[in-house]
Amino acid sequence: MRSLLVTNIGELVTGDPNWGEGPLGIRRNAALVVDGRRVEWIGRATDTPVADARLDVDGAAVLPGFVDSHSHLVFGGDRAAEFAARMAGQRYTGGGIRTTVGATRAADDDQLRANVARLRNEALRQGTTTMEIKSGYGLSVADEARSLRIAREFTSETTFLGAHVVPAEYADRTDDYVSLVCGPMLTAARAAGARWIDVFCERGAFDADHSRAILTVGADAGLGVRVHANQLSEGPGVQLAVELQAASADHCTHLSAADIAALAGGSTVATLLPGAEFSTRSPYPPARALLDAGATVALATDCNPGSSYTTSIPFCIALAVREMAMTPAEAVLAATRGGAAALRRDDIGRLTHGARGDLVVLDAPSHVHLAYRPGVPLISNVVLNGELV
Ligand code: NIG
Ligand code: FE
Repeated sequence: MRSLLVTNIGELVTGDPNWGEGPLGIRRNAALVVDGRRVEWIGRATDTPVADARLDVDGAAVLPGFVDSHSHLVFGGDRAAEFAARMAGQRYTGGGIRTTVGATRAADDDQLRANVARLRNEALRQGTTTMEIKSGYGLSVADEARSLRIAREFTSETTFLGAHVVPAEYADRTDDYVSLVCGPMLTAARAAGARWIDVFCERGAFDADHSRAILTVGADAGLGVRVHANQLSEGPGVQLAVELQAASADHCTHLSAADIAALAGGSTVATLLPGAEFSTRSPYPPARALLDAGATVALATDCNPGSSYTTSIPFCIALAVREMAMTPAEAVLAATRGGAAALRRDDIGRLTHGARGDLVVLDAPSHVHLAYRPGVPLISNVVLNGELV
């Protein structure tokens, strides 16, 4: 494997305060070498070792690759008409999930695979080097298993979301559907390589008891726990996530003071998904209160055809800064170290010795430009696993 020197970095965001100034650990006029897929050397641009290849970034900012810890890329069809109706005044309820379940079941494997590949490439071009991908639009044993198998072709961070909603054929038989999820569907999900289990804990989806039952049996089977929590209303999701020591409680849009205290006091990351609030015209999550209380915050896209059809972490960073009172540094940290924490990983989301060689070069001198220049394609180069892509 060839080593790569990245040099003349005006602002290197290491993501670790031990490695530079401030919470982002910023170093100026820096250089780094990626060798054997890992960051091997960090130092001054005036004093660089020899490497097989050299990328001179001419004073630009270099950041850890973005970690998108929440997406739903395996689906058929789209829901542009539902979005247009919402922008004309209709409310988002999650009812459209069943529309996508129908389109996903009707698609063949190659169509689903091509859709994931298209969206994964879109994300990569915008600086995302790690992406979690959920199932959840199959909702039968066979369709959840194939969704996870296809997701696994693109990432090791795959999540079984059989408990997204109760599918139409189980209407008024929620207990039977929960038994299916906890039994044969979970077995098939594990065989398909799922690493995580997730539940949409919300009125109209799964209540606290069903959610706890599903997540507990998943954890007992060796899967890590994540929860779609408090998206559409206050409810039990966040408290359940903290109780089960879930890696992440996702959405966190409607939080009580007790929810914020629980997240600040526990090991569960609060993953905020402002693309969903943007696309459903909803109030944004209370990021400032979470950060001030000491919670660990991640930012992710929630990319899906219903509530948030974006693959762009830079867009989410801009929303977090403008609409959620996060500073640019907090937003960048949440999209890198925060995402890594939400996946319980310490080899990504930072650029320090031994970290994976995943980085982005901005067409800008500072990370601040990600929010300062919204909607502008600022990612000029991406290095994934030590290779320039
Ligand atoms: O995270 N909330 C549940 N699931 C998705 C939305 C899915 C959809 O509308 O298709 C979300 O926002
Ligand atoms: Fe989601």
